[in-house]
Amino acid sequence: MKEVKEISEVLIENGQEHILEHLGLMIAEQKEALINDLKQVDFKLLDSLFETYKKLPTSKNKKKVFSAADVLSFDEGDVSVKEKKRLYAIGEDYLSQGKIAVFLVAGGQGTRLGFNGPKGCYPISPVKGKSLFQLFSENILALQRRYGKEFPWYIMTSNENNEETLSFFRKNSFLGLNEHNVRFIIQKQIPSFDFNGKLIISRDKKLLKNPNGHGGSIQALYDSGALTEMKNSGIEEIFYFQVDNPLVKIADPLFAGAHISIHGEISSKVVRKTDPDERVGIIGKVDGKLGCIEYSELSSEKVRERKEDGSLLFNSGNIAIHMLNRNFVEKLNSEENKGLPYHLAVKDAVALVVKSGTHTLEYIKSIKPEMFIFDALSFAKRSATLEVERSEEFSPVKNSEGKDSPETARRAMVERCIKWIYKSGKQDLFPKEASVEISPLFAFDVEGFCARFVSLPEASSSFYIE
Ligand code: UTP
Repeated sequence: MKEVKEISEVLIENGQEHILEHLGLMIAEQKEALINDLKQVDFKLLDSLFETYKKLPTSKNKKKVFSAADVLSFDEGDVSVKEKKRLYAIGEDYLSQGKIAVFLVAGGQGTRLGFNGPKGCYPISPVKGKSLFQLFSENILALQRRYGKEFPWYIMTSNENNEETLSFFRKNSFLGLNEHNVRFIIQKQIPSFDFNGKLIISRDKKLLKNPNGHGGSIQALYDSGALTEMKNSGIEEIFYFQVDNPLVKIADPLFAGAHISIHGEISSKVVRKTDPDERVGIIGKVDGKLGCIEYSELSSEKVRERKEDGSLLFNSGNIAIHMLNRNFVEKLNSEENKGLPYHLAVKDAVALVVKSGTHTLEYIKSIKPEMFIFDALSFAKRSATLEVERSEEFSPVKNSEGKDSPETARRAMVERCIKWIYKSGKQDLFPKEASVEISPLFAFDVEGFCARFVSLPEASSSFYIE
């Protein structure tokens, strides 16, 4: 078979001849699938990742200097209110002109949640059980009504969940959105390798590979043609968010305005840490450059360091909500920058190995390469970091129970509703233990809610405001 011969040469040339033994034990169909996978492998990249891996012990010992980032935060002072209004108006202007696209990254594997299906399909809302995708769609629909423009919504999926995501949208009539405005782009996959730089065969006789991380979105926007499409339709800025946060304020005008007003290239929203030991990345400076400091990188003294006003020095928790300038994303993909760097994590894996001429399973350690969106920060010349209130904007669904689980997210959603109800001044009492949900189509921010809310509908233990 010509194909086997060709791939054999490539494998031998790249020191991956062990795969030949696997191919020798496979039936035609399996062989064909594996060869197809192998054809996609960028061996040059694999080689350079393995070289990086070998140098990790030395590079890890390099001392990094961490400092805090400048953070924009609005208290209730007069100056602050005026500035907030100014920035809000800038964001609204862009929205009214249709210059902002919405971009959701949803290609992750959601292993910790353990839900059978794409995480966006998870039923999360406390009264109606709406999925994350539905909440986002309704938020976008409401934005469209407010600003009189249709916003393109790009959703990044991976090979593993693209089909299911698409069929969810189709089955649910694109959740009320115009089908043509919802675009799916598939991120690339990248193979894992072992401590000797060898490719790994998984138990299903395929190459062990994974989606290339949320940072793969930068490449996916470019490769899919989405950036060109955006350019042609007058989009200048991209609102980036992740699939697990039901409290996200999509294309928040204040955030957009803060970013646009300084000609930001990538900007971030942050929340204050709950306590010094919270395991969250910090938007800060690494060797003088903006970036995300991982919680494991700060010593226990640094984590506790305080400013004169008593607040923590490293306090700006990264919630993975960004504004990306379209030209900047283009620039990140240029020959000069060559995209974002890969991080290499050691993971447990089950591998198929050839022993005495037959296939057996073995538990091994593998190296999983992944790109992270926050690495784009170090390339930016201008960036805004906006502090927002956690209870208003962030409660991710990561784990099946405990911290950052559906239970904590639902509670946060209910608490935010109750806060808005009290803030409206139209309701003095809210029944204890009752559940409440506000449709994003009724209001997607506290200002919108206070302007419309009259009174609670009749109900006993749960309320749905629409
Ligand atoms: P997480 O870091 O929570 O990873 O992703 P995950 O794969 O979804 O979940 P676990 O770790 O397996 O439990 C944060 C966001 O980045 C997206 C996810 O879909 C989520 O919106 N993501 C992550 C991608 O789009 N692609 C990836 O390769 C990884």
